[in-house]
Amino acid sequence: MTNQTTILDPKLEQTVSQLRCIECARVHKSASRTLRCPSCGDLLEIIYPAWKTSGARAAGLNASELKALWRQRRSSRVAVDQSGVWRFRELLPALASGHEAITLREGNTPLYEMPRSARIAGVPHLYAKHQGMNPTGSFKDTGMTVSASFARQGGFRWVACASTGNTSASMAAYAARGGMRSLVLIPDGKVSWGKLSQALDYGAVTCQLKTDFDGCMRVLNEVVERMPVYLLNSINPYRLEGQKTAAIELLEQCDWQSPDHVIVPGGNLGNCSALGKAFLEMRELGLISQMPKLSVIQAEGANPLVRTVRETSGKRLISVQAETLATAIRIGYPASWKKAVRVLEATGGTVEQVSEIEMAQAKAEIGADGVGCEPASAVTLAGLKKLVKQGFVKPSETVVLVLTGHLLKDPEFTLKFHRGDLFSGTQLESQAAILAAHERAPIVLEASADAVVKTLEQAETLGEEP
Ligand code: F0G
Repeated sequence: MTNQTTILDPKLEQTVSQLRCIECARVHKSASRTLRCPSCGDLLEIIYPAWKTSGARAAGLNASELKALWRQRRSSRVAVDQSGVWRFRELLPALASGHEAITLREGNTPLYEMPRSARIAGVPHLYAKHQGMNPTGSFKDTGMTVSASFARQGGFRWVACASTGNTSASMAAYAARGGMRSLVLIPDGKVSWGKLSQALDYGAVTCQLKTDFDGCMRVLNEVVERMPVYLLNSINPYRLEGQKTAAIELLEQCDWQSPDHVIVPGGNLGNCSALGKAFLEMRELGLISQMPKLSVIQAEGANPLVRTVRETSGKRLISVQAETLATAIRIGYPASWKKAVRVLEATGGTVEQVSEIEMAQAKAEIGADGVGCEPASAVTLAGLKKLVKQGFVKPSETVVLVLTGHLLKDPEFTLKFHRGDLFSGTQLESQAAILAAHERAPIVLEASADAVVKTLEQAETLGEEP
């Protein structure tokens, strides 16, 4: 079995892609070092001009032929067919002939039923698409396999990112697999140990800067102007193309019947932009007839998109000084805000914000479904509860929460929560009393069967539902 395989085949010639500015719409052959439009400085997106003329016959195949081909690849022994990203390569930019994809068999993530959370939210048809089940434990891998492969095709020796932790873990892994070096800029003290330890183990040069994520991003933009390093943050349009495939895989898992709602956490706003792009493209290609409404949930303390939509109708970014225990989404100046606003409008989705306590409770509830996730992912369930109360989500509708990171990414948060320490010494301490019913601190006992049996009997009398 080969690890990497050339992915350009004659059928893909129509999948030729172009870079287009999201603001001035100019088309460019290549991007500048900062991955911004050389004319107006805004973000770039990847477009597939051939789809305009061939429509559903992208890559020479119609919608049902594409679906059959993607299904058939699941049983292939070829690396790029086993990847849950490159399996959908007809909807991705093609690498040049002779270049190979760097793959860790990303994607292929489960869609779980969430019965307990469904009862709590009042939405019987509730599912979780668990992107934390990717090789490095977050959704970033689906984008990184594409953007790292293009970095290597471009001849870069170094790749770099600013990160709240997951991007750095993923980038470091794909750089290592692809024989490239990686530079990570993370905010000092605000990255979970799980994520930091991954970047170290995968061999990244890891710099903890005395600033927040937004500060790291500013420094990195200067570094890429001065040094030949390839930027792998989510402003990189190739990353978003890879992240699109989570939506394609989701629809495949739903037998191409769109759920009514897809709910996703928002940080730098790349992921919601990618998923929204996928829904729009799938409709354009006739793969689906109806799109889900895509909604974005943020933490109250890191809510620039919520404020931007509510206070300026999405016209002008309102940045904030971000603060939340969900360090993954502790971002106040999101790069992809315009893309996010556009997909919200195009799919008819909305924005909502949740408190730290609502997020912590929802995380425990997702855990109690036997699924678990990292804190940032849990804003989805907390937000859903609000959207149901507001009537935006109807009890009869089908909802998919996108869980972006694995439970083990941030064990410190989880331990503190169950020990009842998460909000100790903060202003939220008294409000946090409502979390007690969800807390499951480890019980220290004498090493005797009597003590254990007594604990078991006590637990039984508490009579919790399985
Ligand atoms: N959930 C998790 C677990 C994340 O790590 C991130 C972003 C998000 C949600 C938000 O996604 O930025 O596309 O809106 N983490 C980035 C990082 C910023 O550096 O790992 P987004």
